[in-house]
Amino acid sequence: MIKDFNFYAPTRVVFGRETEKKIGQLVAANGGKKVLIHYGGGSAQRSGLLDVVRGQLRDADIAFCELGGVVPNPLLSKVREGIELCRREEVDFILAVGGGSVIDSSKAIDYGVSYDGDVWDFWAGKAVPSQCLPIGVVLTIPAAGSEMSSSCVITADEGLLKRGINSDLCRCRFAVMNPERTFTLPPYQTAAGATDIMMHTMERYFSKYEDMTLTDAISEALLRTVKDSALVVMRNPEDYRHRAQIMWAGSLAHNDLTECGTEKDFATHRLEHELSALFGVTHGAGLAAIWPSWARYVKDKHLSRFVQFAVNVMGVPNDFSHPEETAERGICTVEEFYRQIGMPTSIHELLGREITDQEIETMVEKCSRGGTITVGAMEVIDAKAMRDIYLMAR
Ligand code: NZQ
Ligand code: ZN
Repeated sequence: MIKDFNFYAPTRVVFGRETEKKIGQLVAANGGKKVLIHYGGGSAQRSGLLDVVRGQLRDADIAFCELGGVVPNPLLSKVREGIELCRREEVDFILAVGGGSVIDSSKAIDYGVSYDGDVWDFWAGKAVPSQCLPIGVVLTIPAAGSEMSSSCVITADEGLLKRGINSDLCRCRFAVMNPERTFTLPPYQTAAGATDIMMHTMERYFSKYEDMTLTDAISEALLRTVKDSALVVMRNPEDYRHRAQIMWAGSLAHNDLTECGTEKDFATHRLEHELSALFGVTHGAGLAAIWPSWARYVKDKHLSRFVQFAVNVMGVPNDFSHPEETAERGICTVEEFYRQIGMPTSIHELLGREITDQEIETMVEKCSRGGTITVGAMEVIDAKAMRDIYLMAR
């Protein structure tokens, strides 16, 4: 069966070397007259990118103010600071310079500027965003895919609640992507980014809708490409060709292209968000720690899918008489790939210590919202299954 779909990808992608030279004209074309430049902890400053961005806006006669200091797994407190600044400065356009954390912080600020209530209402399920200022992105890390996604993931400082909401309102007007800007990424971030990119497509590939062979082919090509290119850039961080493949894949993996005719599962993501909320770990690394356990938990009920993945993506020979072994070898090959790029395959490896029973209970409680919700689509994961998977992954 092929699921009906409604594909919407309005973001203009400006891709390649020296594309930063187009920033001024892109902001102007999107009506930006007073811009907030939003950025993270310092990498964009150190690389000189922020100076390029400032120069672009000055040359285009566009006024701007700035707010840096967005941390990975971005916090609500910074969002509140941004909302106040935007109101005070009458900002009409936000330019995110960074990765998923900066983009999501920008989206959240955008939602909040024109909302009278508390901005967290959107993540608490008490309100739905109805307005959003335009956003542009200068992407520095391929990973979260937020530059083309409808998603915005924020962590409330109090209680460390990490939640995502989706709305087409926040889809970015443009994304400037120069693969050279990713040469400076620390190896761990490169690896975690590749893991996250692959997972965004795997979360849609592992689906009970199995008839859309075109989407499968796109997904499989994307997964093989990111896997192969990740191995190259871990050895040679300045390999433009492979950095470019990963960067483009990062956007396609999460702009819903690989969901056309299938559906979102995202159980691994939801389980991971509790890890990055509680322990502040890198999102992609958390996914690597969880996925093999999720896969082993669900694979027997979806064997043909896991066999197809093992053979078409991970290059495992098909043992037709033992499909369960082919499926298991596919999962083992993913673990082997994670080890090659320095990603963990368990929570122990992720944290560098044993997770306690109490910490697992806290994650189950938060992920299931006190046992009131389930996650996943191909296989529905309730509180008991969450606990089982965390225990397998520990
Ligand atoms: O803060 P700075 O100094 O800029 O350093 C960052 C940060 O420490 C560094 N970095 C980025 N570009 C760099 C660089 N260092 C050197 N050179 C560069 N060119 O990398 C670190 C990670 O940055 P971050 O923005 O946190 O990475 P990512 O893009 O992985 O974003 C992670 C966040 O996105 C959320 C995650 O949960 C997490 O909060 N996600 C958002 C999604 C969405 N909105 O669609 C979907 C994802 O599934 C994900 O949940
Ligand atoms: Zn992700």
